[in-house]
Amino acid sequence: MDTIQIKDKLFTISIGREEIQKEVKRVADEINRDLEGQNPLFLSVLNGSFMFTADLMKYITIPCEVSFVKLASYQGVSSTGTIKEVIGINEDLTNRTVVIVEDIVDTGLTMQRLLETLGTRNPKEIRIATLLLKPDKLKVELDIKYIAMKIPNDFIVGYGLDYDGFGRNYPDIYTVVP
Ligand code: IMP
Ligand code: MG
Repeated sequence: MDTIQIKDKLFTISIGREEIQKEVKRVADEINRDLEGQNPLFLSVLNGSFMFTADLMKYITIPCEVSFVKLASYQGVSSTGTIKEVIGINEDLTNRTVVIVEDIVDTGLTMQRLLETLGTRNPKEIRIATLLLKPDKLKVELDIKYIAMKIPNDFIVGYGLDYDGFGRNYPDIYTVVP
């Protein structure tokens, strides 16, 4: 399947499954090397990172834990409009090495919010692992330790990422056809 239709948009394949797996494995190898002996806690951000997390974890060989969080958006009364609340942190993060596992960092605002929230729980260190980064859209300064792939600004779906809830199931990544 080289092109797919989701609702009103057409998408064409841009990153194939072999390349994705190769880069996910590379990131896992880096984490295995860097965090040996640290018993990291991987915190996967649902929904988008479910597929990345599943594949990444299969390549992690050091002792570790995996858990899942979700960001609930609601319209707040603040000037910034949407406020995102982190839900589902059940683990004690005190003195833990935490690895946030994200599907994509776009403006970086979501990640910034996550770091703020997790930072109040006294972790030893927080590292970011993202499948994708759109470097040209980044609005805030972030130290992203692990990046599987950098992509242009175009909207993408597949491998966990969605367009209006659809398209998460594809094993490849597709870019919108303008
Ligand atoms: P940020 O807060 O701007 O960094 O946005 C991050 C979130 O926006 C991601 O977790 C995705 O849910 C969503 N997002 C950003 N770009 C894309 C895209 O190209 N396709 C699908 N979702 C995206
Ligand atoms: Mg996400």
